[in-house]
Amino acid sequence: MYHSQLHPLQIDPTTGEPFLRLPAPLQNIIITPPRLSDGASIVPILNDNAVCRWLQGPPYPYLPSHAESWLAAAKNDSDVILNELERASKDGPLKIIDACPVRILRETNANGPDTFLGDIFLHRCQYPYEEPTTKQELSAENARKEVGDPTIVWCIGDYLASSHHGRGIMSTALKTLLTAWAIPRMGVRRIRAETFRGNVGSVRVFEKNGFVLEKTVDHGEVTTSGKRIDGAHILWWEYK
Ligand SMILES: CC(C)(COP(=O)(O)OP(=O)(O)OC[C@H]1O[C@@H](n2cnc3c(N)ncnc32)[C@H](O)[C@@H]1OP(=O)(O)O)[C@@H](O)C(=O)NCCC(=O)NCCS
Repeated sequence: MYHSQLHPLQIDPTTGEPFLRLPAPLQNIIITPPRLSDGASIVPILNDNAVCRWLQGPPYPYLPSHAESWLAAAKNDSDVILNELERASKDGPLKIIDACPVRILRETNANGPDTFLGDIFLHRCQYPYEEPTTKQELSAENARKEVGDPTIVWCIGDYLASSHHGRGIMSTALKTLLTAWAIPRMGVRRIRAETFRGNVGSVRVFEKNGFVLEKTVDHGEVTTSGKRIDGAHILWWEYK
């Protein structure tokens, strides 16, 4: 039977862009691929202390040039996945794939362009809080696993504009991403989530989605905003 290998992504009829829509009452929030025009929205969010103090990855201060190079790479990653799905057989089974082509949260507006809100993405775990040798061994072993291997350990990165914190958006976005794409289309079965110690909101987002706190490790970190965070919460999720 003919089907779209993009299932269950929807397609915007005007732009052709694939997207996932959050369920009601958050149906005005969609998850799409990155757009090269997102830079002007990303820069203020990633310089906002309420966001960047909890993120290890992005540089601080976050400059337009950082956004430009990040967007080029992230959009290319998404395009590679979309092209792979485009080439896959339309009458074979839905292809299991190693990533999600949509990741950017946007608020749709009836009378104008949508608003960039944040990012949520899955990647193979790199064990940042293990001792260097263990970290290297575990990461390499995890990276070697075949696409769809149920023993792959995944990790999640996310952030949301502070103007929209506390409305249930990230909890629902995580649930949507897991049930619509990560579980059925990537074969995700195990996730290890890591958040800096004291990031109560992030821990709650994970707990509300069935993650269980395993431990809190002591580990001095200098975050992107130059603050030292002494430790991280490690949570696990297993597919049931
Ligand atoms: C963490 C973050 C993604 C949460 O997104 P969000 O959409 O605001 O979260 P939700 O509204 O879905 O809230 C989930 C739960 O956390 C609670 N919560 C959210 N922010 C909180 C905060 N700062 N302090 C305490 N609780 C908080 C909510 O009350 C809710 O719990 P409840 O349903 O039991 O009341 C967002 O705050 C953020 O972007 N923070 C900065 C970046 C970051 O920390 N990223 C994660 C890195 S691991």
